[in-house]
Amino acid sequence: MIPESFIQELLHRVDVVDLIDGYVPLKKAGANFAACCPFHNEKSPSFTVSPSKQFYHCFGCGAHGTAIGFLMEYSGLGFIDAIKELANKVGLQMPEDEGRRSHDGPKVTALTEVMARAAKYYYEQLKRSEKAVNYLKGRGVSGEIAQKFGIGYAPEGWQNLGATFEDYTLAELQVAGLVIKNEQGRLYDRFRDRVMFPIMNQKGEVIAFGGRVMGEGEPKYLNSPETPLFEKGREVFGLPQARAALRDKDTAIVVEGYMDVVALAQHGIGNAVATLGTATTATHVQKLFRQVDRIVYCFDGDAAGRKAAWRALENSLEVLPEKKSIGFVFLPEADDPDSFVRDQGAESFERMITQAMPLSEFLLRELASHSDMTSAEGRANLVAEAKPLLGRLQTPLLRLQLVKRLAEASGFSQPEVERLCDLRPIARAAPARVPRQAPSLLRPLLRLLLQKPELAKGLPLGALAPNLAEARAVEHLCKTILAAGDPAPPYAVLLERLRGSEDENILREAAAELMQQPFAEEDIDAEFDGAVKRLVEGESKRAFANLQEKVYRLGVAGLSGEEKQHYLQALSASGRVG
Ligand code: UTP
Ligand code: MN
Repeated sequence: MIPESFIQELLHRVDVVDLIDGYVPLKKAGANFAACCPFHNEKSPSFTVSPSKQFYHCFGCGAHGTAIGFLMEYSGLGFIDAIKELANKVGLQMPEDEGRRSHDGPKVTALTEVMARAAKYYYEQLKRSEKAVNYLKGRGVSGEIAQKFGIGYAPEGWQNLGATFEDYTLAELQVAGLVIKNEQGRLYDRFRDRVMFPIMNQKGEVIAFGGRVMGEGEPKYLNSPETPLFEKGREVFGLPQARAALRDKDTAIVVEGYMDVVALAQHGIGNAVATLGTATTATHVQKLFRQVDRIVYCFDGDAAGRKAAWRALENSLEVLPEKKSIGFVFLPEADDPDSFVRDQGAESFERMITQAMPLSEFLLRELASHSDMTSAEGRANLVAEAKPLLGRLQTPLLRLQLVKRLAEASGFSQPEVERLCDLRPIARAAPARVPRQAPSLLRPLLRLLLQKPELAKGLPLGALAPNLAEARAVEHLCKTILAAGDPAPPYAVLLERLRGSEDENILREAAAELMQQPFAEEDIDAEFDGAVKRLVEGESKRAFANLQEKVYRLGVAGLSGEEKQHYLQALSASGRVG
């Protein structure tokens, strides 16, 4: 974990205008700066950067964030890497326990160095092994592609890494998963007589290896264990190599195997990455969607591949953003992408990618395949099975599309499907250009708090209506501000603290409104007092209405002693009795 205080310091030191200007030249526009949005195509500038609040917002596509968020979106970096890069830019030292260092273990940087050195060693050994070179040649891998992926060879023998690390007992070697200690305390190389595929992070640092046996032997691929550098569910193979092609094609092809990625690259298809013998996770999907608008899953043509595709679908649903798409390609039974592209060529493969089955289609087909669509019961079953899946979707458009298709397939009406699936409206980040119908009281309150966070102290939280998304956001924001202590943190810091929370979208919208129409400094306290007063009045009205409703249902006798007192007080205050 990176400490909050460090993020705060970093955001304080970086100027978001300078930072963004280095990537997208900005023009002064009133109190803000503007440019054509780097995150979507447009002719007139709706991308706006606020120097005073240190954030950007695109009124066209809704992109929104701090300096950290900008680097993540623009360069496809993860949160921690974006912070590292920013810290570098302004010459801030990353705090000691940064990243995913294990408690007393070696530092991440030391592990990265160890991995780099091992990769170099394996790479050099490849040239010396005729057997390994022939193996790769036999699989159609050219020297150029082997080099691009840094493919190497771990020779036979037990302590080969001793040749490149003077101190074979170095703790980092074991933590990095390169050296194993047996029960007798003897140390030996994990990878022996295997073709080595380095797994790299976005920056191209080696974080793990997959080693393939040549010929028969178990396991076929031996992988690095999970280490402080390597978490399987977060990483894919081939990402840095694919970067340029991902940008060109705006599509990521996700395959299962190392050799699938390598063979596709060999045939000029550079935009493929592989999950590492695990299911595709939501984290994988999010990572890829930072770089492309479309993901196509192309798994093996066997039953396992089909199952992997379904898992990928399930895990993609909740992180599938609006305007992004997912497709599925199903290869012939005996094929994987490697064999297919070798037999059928790149053009056939690309055609399949273009014609991939849309997610909605795969979902329906799969569900329909285990429901008897000729009986009413089977059709009801189809809807029942769709329910948990629809519930995960965060995108109203795709959900609507699926509901429509479910309605067609099941014979239920659209509203019936919605009711059966218990679907509620999705709170979405509407472009701020069309201000959303918001409870008129809470929106200005949010804006006031964002403009002057120290106002949080004066807000009576008890007056906030429960069950209202906006009220929850106000409460969450207030509590975050209060928890941070004095001085109250500025917007950019708050935005980073609330990263990933369910209130993030509402806050973004409010901040965007503020960007266009900030309160005048001299009015802000009076505005706030007025808003609080209206809020408190509103709350007592609401409480009264509740009591009154109870009285209608149960009579005055249905009220508790306290409620009765409130009720009578309110009645007399409004002049309705006495
Ligand atoms: P496959 O068994 O489909 O192998 O595993 P493959 O990719 O076609 O490999 P080649 O073509 O025979 O060389 C798919 C992926 O699952 C993981 C690897 O990431 C592999 O690429 N795997 C498979 C392992 O990690 N260990 C294994 O023993 C097998
Ligand atoms: Mn294969």
